[in-house]
Amino acid sequence: MAIRDILVIPDKKLRLVSQPVANVDGSIRKLAEEMFEAMYDAPGIGLAAIQIGEPVRVVTMDLAKKDEEKQPQVFINPEIVWSSDETSLHEEGCLSIPDYYEEVKRPAEVKVKYLDLEGRLQEVHARDLLATCLQHEIDHLNGVLFIDHLSKLKRDRVIKKYTKIAKQAAE
Ligand code: NI
Repeated sequence: MAIRDILVIPDKKLRLVSQPVANVDGSIRKLAEEMFEAMYDAPGIGLAAIQIGEPVRVVTMDLAKKDEEKQPQVFINPEIVWSSDETSLHEEGCLSIPDYYEEVKRPAEVKVKYLDLEGRLQEVHARDLLATCLQHEIDHLNGVLFIDHLSKLKRDRVIKKYTKIAKQAAE
């Protein structure tokens, strides 16, 4: 089976609000498999389903370092139930905005409720990279991109650049 393409800005689908998963069934497990495939192939550390064109609230992640064993994680219907007042600044990138990195300020810690692949309710208290990634991916489920957290000037510049690239590719 072919690896699913990852959508790149300015693809309008990336702005859709994804729908909650009603039942964690075989189709969701298959979707998660396809997401991992695309994510590892890219390679990236996190992916939201909408990035392969599926507007459902599913996130895949693997924060293992290169020399470590894989640590695949799936978050279904993830929801931030608490965020710290303390913020932190982390450099972020996105497979839908290739080769662009910028520091983003977000709450340093978050608590996230979600369903796992067996449909069980879970909660995680996330810090550091996990906190950043979860917030970044949950943003995707709401049609929000990390560039939306930057100044309008920076954001407009990025969108303009990738719109030009897309136009050139279509010619
Ligand atoms: Ni992203």
